Amino acid sequence: MFEIKENISLKNYNTFGIDVKSRFFVECTSSQEIVDFLKTRQNPNLPLLVLGGGSNVLFTKDFDGYILRPSTKGIEIINESDDDITIKVGAGEDWDEFVAYCVERNWGGIENLSLIPGNVGTCPIQNIGAYGVEVEDVIAEVEALNISTFKTECFKNDECEFAYRDSIFKRKLKGTQIITHVSFKLQKQPVFKLDYGKLKDELNRFDKVNLANIRQAVIDIRNSKLPKPEEIGNAGSFFKNPVIEKLKAIELLSQYEDMPSYDQGLGKVKIPAGWLIEKAGWKGKRIGNAGVHKNQALVLVNYGGSSGSDIYNVATEIQKSVKNMFDIDIAMEVNIV
Ligand code: FAD
Ligand code: EPU
Repeated sequence: MFEIKENISLKNYNTFGIDVKSRFFVECTSSQEIVDFLKTRQNPNLPLLVLGGGSNVLFTKDFDGYILRPSTKGIEIINESDDDITIKVGAGEDWDEFVAYCVERNWGGIENLSLIPGNVGTCPIQNIGAYGVEVEDVIAEVEALNISTFKTECFKNDECEFAYRDSIFKRKLKGTQIITHVSFKLQKQPVFKLDYGKLKDELNRFDKVNLANIRQAVIDIRNSKLPKPEEIGNAGSFFKNPVIEKLKAIELLSQYEDMPSYDQGLGKVKIPAGWLIEKAGWKGKRIGNAGVHKNQALVLVNYGGSSGSDIYNVATEIQKSVKNMFDIDIAMEVNIV
């Protein structure tokens, strides 16, 4: 049975380590518990926020409502052939533990997504991606509870409207569904994806390429660049990489020859926001206890004791600088609460 706690600190429930309070806080271990909670909560008009591992949120003030953590667990095989396997996973499972579980069994498809913090239930929301793979490549179905009707609804891959750091759950369905399970179709004869950045070079030190070594290579690259939230509070990339018109990119490249750019087809080009922010002079900058990481300009950090508003203010200053210098708008990836 769930317990509704009151006035609890969220410091240990968000990877920025922001110390705000939530008026109510509840953890539910099954879909039925979530329904029971939704039906019986005393103040149904108060806001409801679903929280996973808290690795993609920035709390800027106390939360005057209910925070619900779905911790539905379990990994279940629902279909298997010689070539692939489909597994249904509870939203409350830890993402990286799930990746390790699949790699151990030689089920391929998510090894490049190693060491991303957060829960399995959150992975479809911003369509997590890294090292040339996005989770949409392997999601079969997302199962969610409709907050108004209490009914379970299933969304097949093509109904999730996946795009770069985007899905239907961030747009049309935002705030209307609680994801309880995600099903993945993984490969039993894995095809390796090694084209991103220095991944191939990193694999040279291993005697062979297999899922375990790819996982280790990704972990090593990430550890060399990204701060660990246990050491310095952060939420990974604070901004999305902007996608701009090709003509605009050509104009910028004539001015900045070293600007990295990735052709997206259809006359669009993706520019790394980390490069833009570094060029605008923000890399390693610290303002009070908030700042920009010294190895990765896309990552904003809490050096300790920073408020969410301090970090938000740095973020808006960065947006203004990038706009002034390059005439490019960079959108926040992190969810501001
Ligand atoms: P939370 O922060 O708890 O929630 C995120 C959003 O989803 C919130 O709006 C919340 O309300 C909503 N939500 C959470 N659970 C549910 C649910 N069950 N149902 C409905 N809504 C829900 N992301 C990448 O894509 N690629 C990376 O390489 C990457 N690297 C990172 C590195 C670091 C060091 C950190 C700290 C973060 C990184 N991230 C990365 C971002 C983050 O890990 C992902 O966005 C992750 O999926 C967030 O999961 P979470 O459970 O912590 O989500
Ligand atoms: N760059 C700089 N300066 C910086 C940071 C990056 O010039 O301070 C340049 C790099 O030199 C490189 C390019 O930008 O040429 C891309 O850098 P990197 O490979 O580190 O990737 P990124 O674009 O900064 C994205 C994702 C990460 C993901 C990595 C690896 C977004 C918003 N971020 O970062 O995801 O782990 O690629 O695939 O797409 C996250 O979403 O939280 C996240 C960490």
